[in-house]
Amino acid sequence: FETLALSGRTVYITAGPTREALDPVRYISNHSSGKMGYALAAAARDAGARVRLISGPVSIAVPDRVQCVQVESAQQMLDASLEGLADCDLFIAAAAVADYRPVSVAEHKIKKGSEEIMELHLVKNPDIVATVASSKNRPFTVGFAAETRDVVAYAQDKLARKRLDLIVANDVSAPGIGFNSDENAVTLVGPDSVESLPQTHKQQLARQLINRIARHLNEQAKT
Ligand code: C5P
Repeated sequence: FETLALSGRTVYITAGPTREALDPVRYISNHSSGKMGYALAAAARDAGARVRLISGPVSIAVPDRVQCVQVESAQQMLDASLEGLADCDLFIAAAAVADYRPVSVAEHKIKKGSEEIMELHLVKNPDIVATVASSKNRPFTVGFAAETRDVVAYAQDKLARKRLDLIVANDVSAPGIGFNSDENAVTLVGPDSVESLPQTHKQQLARQLINRIARHLNEQAKT
């Protein structure tokens, strides 16, 4: 039989947006669709991996034979990411995590006042992928970077800063790709490699990415 690229591997993938509560009925979030992360989960499954998808709220179906842990906030996504991490071989952070959350969550619905300006106080969320990459017995760790210019240079900087093994960088200033669309075009950046993958459907791109990521992972495992 054929040995698949990720046979016997355990893969964690974060996907979708996070929701940061303001009060019982309101939150801060973003337009991430989760499509790239879900496509990567299906592609990793097809490559033979045991896949755990750690997903913020999205409206797409969980792929068959993929375990999904549903979360809302960045803190919950971090907790779920650290759970059983010692058994994880490959961690892919495709989620659009909110950078900040409200300092406190109001116990009751915030009332409209007479003032025209309202101030919100926010505090920085933990960096999930950087925390994973700095953990003991870390898995091979892959992040995403959405940039509008100098894509490769910023990706290399992020790679070093977050101590990642690979970064999937995309130029979000290009129309019709990336955030919330069906297609994407990316550059896969490693410590000493840069590879461009041209625009295509996220399902197709996910397969190409999983193949290349598996190659890098298997190379590293040999050394
Ligand atoms: O720093 P920046 O948000 O551009 O980094 C993007 C990468 O970091 C993505 O892989 C994203 O999933 C991850 N990230 C994270 N936790 C955060 C912020 C970003 O895991 N709090």
